[in-house]
Amino acid sequence: MELRILNGALREVDAGALVVPAFEKDAPRDTGALKLAGELTSGWVEEVYSSGEFAGKTGEMALLHRPAGFAARRLVLAGGGKLGKFDAAEMRKLAGTVVRSLKGRSVRNIALAVERGDEFAAAAVEGALLGEFETDRYKTDESEKKPLDVFALAGEVSEAALERGRIVGEAQNFTRELANEPGNRLPPSALAARARDMAAEAGLECEILDQDRMRQLGMGALLGVAQGSMEPPFLIVVRYRPDRPGPEGVQLGLVGKGVTFDTGGVSIKPSDKMEEMRADMAGGAAVLGAMRALAALKPAIPVTALVPTVENMPGGRAQRPGDIVRSLAGKTIEILNTDAEGRLILADALAYAVQLGCTHVVDVATLTGAIAVALGNVNAGVFSNHEALLNRVLAAGRAGGEKLWPMPLDEEYREQLKSAFADIQNIGTRYGGAVTAALFLKEFIGETPWVHLDIAGTDWLAEAKPFLTKGPSGVSVRTLIRLALDW
Ligand code: BES
Ligand code: MN
Ligand code: ZN
Repeated sequence: MELRILNGALREVDAGALVVPAFEKDAPRDTGALKLAGELTSGWVEEVYSSGEFAGKTGEMALLHRPAGFAARRLVLAGGGKLGKFDAAEMRKLAGTVVRSLKGRSVRNIALAVERGDEFAAAAVEGALLGEFETDRYKTDESEKKPLDVFALAGEVSEAALERGRIVGEAQNFTRELANEPGNRLPPSALAARARDMAAEAGLECEILDQDRMRQLGMGALLGVAQGSMEPPFLIVVRYRPDRPGPEGVQLGLVGKGVTFDTGGVSIKPSDKMEEMRADMAGGAAVLGAMRALAALKPAIPVTALVPTVENMPGGRAQRPGDIVRSLAGKTIEILNTDAEGRLILADALAYAVQLGCTHVVDVATLTGAIAVALGNVNAGVFSNHEALLNRVLAAGRAGGEKLWPMPLDEEYREQLKSAFADIQNIGTRYGGAVTAALFLKEFIGETPWVHLDIAGTDWLAEAKPFLTKGPSGVSVRTLIRLALDW
């Protein structure tokens, strides 16, 4: 899809559809693009409103073919909801909705009138890219596919805004593409290869630790999870370094869970919906997507991404319940459930992030079903041992338009992780499962400021939204990008 800016007169915009945002109730319709649309079409806009067919509500659309006075083949009013609540996040959704609905009608060239500043313009570009994304890579009937050729912003918009929107939108789609890959198409070695290619293209350093290296280092927790699979594990490390040294020696670590398929291992999962576990590397994919964008957006601080990647399988060599492993941090772990594998690979990756000199660490993981029970598919859960870093992440989430909800880490829950035979065990009771998982991670980060995002409820859309297809959401990419950029 080509992205463009059209600075000229709206009436001359050459497109399959010229889209004008329109709002509810008393929002003025006698200025800008809406006014022009009404005048040239001798009152079509007012008529659409008074007919009751269109009220400007979010997601609504009204469509006029061959609009008088316009070069565009269609004039489209796109509902933006209440004008007072129309922010960049709403603009992102509007653009996505417009793209999905119009390309469904085989429109291949869309221009969106943008009358607000660069933040809205960048969000519109992002939304268009996100809406355009489909999970049809493995569909062979090309005639079923309806790609968009051109998405243009019509208005006084800067190239920089378009570029920023493109970078951030493409980064999210990169993440979604990875998260969507089936287990057979993307084992740990393939995820590592994709990370390496991405880093080379983006101009980032990439180092991939193999099994031997991890054994030398003492990553027993990660290796224990991997041993049931024929697919070897890797620890992917991708580095961004700014041209000038960053403020106060800060080094941000981004750690993402990279389980390419999670069967549960010997503590095997029920087969219903097990296929969704192909996205159990969504956190790792998010971290890599964020790095891809940061390479272009160049934050002031160095950022190091770590993605421990394994396949969690049952098998003759698989880890057993009752096994005790020794983690990189030196703590021993009693494995009571092999399906609580994310925390095991993250334990070693978090400890390694500290060894690499990260001063602040954020991890992203599809860690627990319990977070989906607690927060559903709306908010990701956020846990932290450090208030200032937590506040930075929450602010980044707000700026990026991704919903995050703070969760507790009280010591009282820690009881559940006491092991009779090792330093800690890897599961708690049925109660507070997302909290005990986060408390487990906390043991391995030490005193380093740390935030954990549990995205198990939000990384995958069970149903399509008007602005996003069913499947991987790419959640947390925008938050991570903002966090690094706004430091
Ligand atoms: N990958 C799962 C968590 C998950 C569940 C992600 C549903 C997305 C959707 C994780 O590895 C897991 O299996 N967690 C267990 C932990 C339990 C065994 C303590 C869970 O949540 O049931
Ligand atoms: Mn699991
Ligand atoms: Zn898992």
